[in-house]
Amino acid sequence: MAKKIQSIKGFYDVAPERQKLWRYFEATVLSVLDQYHYQEIGLPIVESTDLFISGVGTQTDIVEKEMYSWIDPLNSDNLTLRPEGTAGCVRAVIEGSLTYNGPTKLFYRGPMFRHENVQKGRQRQFHQIGVEAFGLSDPSSDAEQILLLSRLWKALGLTNITLELNSIGDPADREAYRKVLITYFEDNKAELDEDAQRRLYDNPLRILDSKNPSMQDMLNSAPKLRESISAEARTHFDSLCQTLDNHGVPYILSDRLVRGLDYYNRTVYEWVTKDLGSQGTVAGGGRYDYLVEKLGGVTTPACGFAIGIERIILLLESKALDGLMNPDIYIVNLGDEARSKALMIAESLRDHHYNIAVNMEGASFKSQMKKADKSHANIAFIIGEDEVEKKCIQIKLLREEGSQVSVKDKDVLTHLTSMIN
Ligand code: HAM
Repeated sequence: MAKKIQSIKGFYDVAPERQKLWRYFEATVLSVLDQYHYQEIGLPIVESTDLFISGVGTQTDIVEKEMYSWIDPLNSDNLTLRPEGTAGCVRAVIEGSLTYNGPTKLFYRGPMFRHENVQKGRQRQFHQIGVEAFGLSDPSSDAEQILLLSRLWKALGLTNITLELNSIGDPADREAYRKVLITYFEDNKAELDEDAQRRLYDNPLRILDSKNPSMQDMLNSAPKLRESISAEARTHFDSLCQTLDNHGVPYILSDRLVRGLDYYNRTVYEWVTKDLGSQGTVAGGGRYDYLVEKLGGVTTPACGFAIGIERIILLLESKALDGLMNPDIYIVNLGDEARSKALMIAESLRDHHYNIAVNMEGASFKSQMKKADKSHANIAFIIGEDEVEKKCIQIKLLREEGSQVSVKDKDVLTHLTSMIN
């Protein structure tokens, strides 16, 4: 036997049952995005490596150790599989002058790639829906994106997701804070783990993100960035919080939330659930007013977020979402003539937007009825030789005993409509 080739660690197939939830999620999120007037932009999966080095930042985990990068042997280009979508979206906005006529609100979706340690909820190929607004500096645009997410969780029936919110001020605030923090960590050096020691002078803010239990007390007592941000940044943040209060969106002020990408300023947030173990962040985002100019565009305020689709699917999987994308009707048919009649009826009902599964295997009546039941359709049509001859079909409610009736072919649609209404 030939050698079996297996999938690569951290890269997964999406089984049909899971894909159903995926489509349900996408349909829901697309309709919410339409409500907020976001437009979809298609972005390439491969970008030049420099884009992420400049955009995401050299001191981040992503650029330091997680990128799939290579040199194209045909032209020596330095290329990278995108680890996230914001940098590429900014590049596309600059390249296509997409803010020429004023602010623009965009979203993108698709796979992202990070060479991380694999565990539940953490993959090497994962998928995001990312949302970015360009040209809007007012805190109401940060607020609107958070309201959109809050609406999305409600629409999906996900209740156990909490918003953690912080402001990391502007670059000057962060530079001043960096010095204060380094001094604080130097004073507590004995308590820093290896990772923290390594980051001490390069990226001390990221130490605040550490989950190491032995460092928690020391980190909780660290000076707080939000308390030393500029008056403008403070006003921006207060206004955002006020809007969320006005809309009844609860949040937790999270002093130590700084996010793992370097482009943020002012607003940062994460939506977190306890239902997924250690990988509980289902969406994250914030403001990045300096990224467009950093990547060669004109100064353009911006804010956005991305949702980790696999983590949402895991949450949806734990809810019993019966009836999701099941067929309305399963057609059991016995014999060639019955099969062609089944196809005829199925096509005419699909014209009326019914979802129909036709048995194509030609198995026994009993086995076809079992399949009908397993399909989760509520209604079975049964067509045998008799029904072909008498120009009728049997209609049966699969979850009601004794519900079978014979209906003339010409009356099927009317009968079906009366059953469903
Ligand atoms: P991020 O926090 O790196 O932000 O990723 C956003 C979400 O993607 C995470 O909250 C998580 O749900 C999901 N995610 C990240 N890594 C993995 C992984 N290895 N496996 C499964 N899911 C994962 C960004 O990517 C920013 N570009 C978000 C943004 C947009 N900020 C402003 N605009």
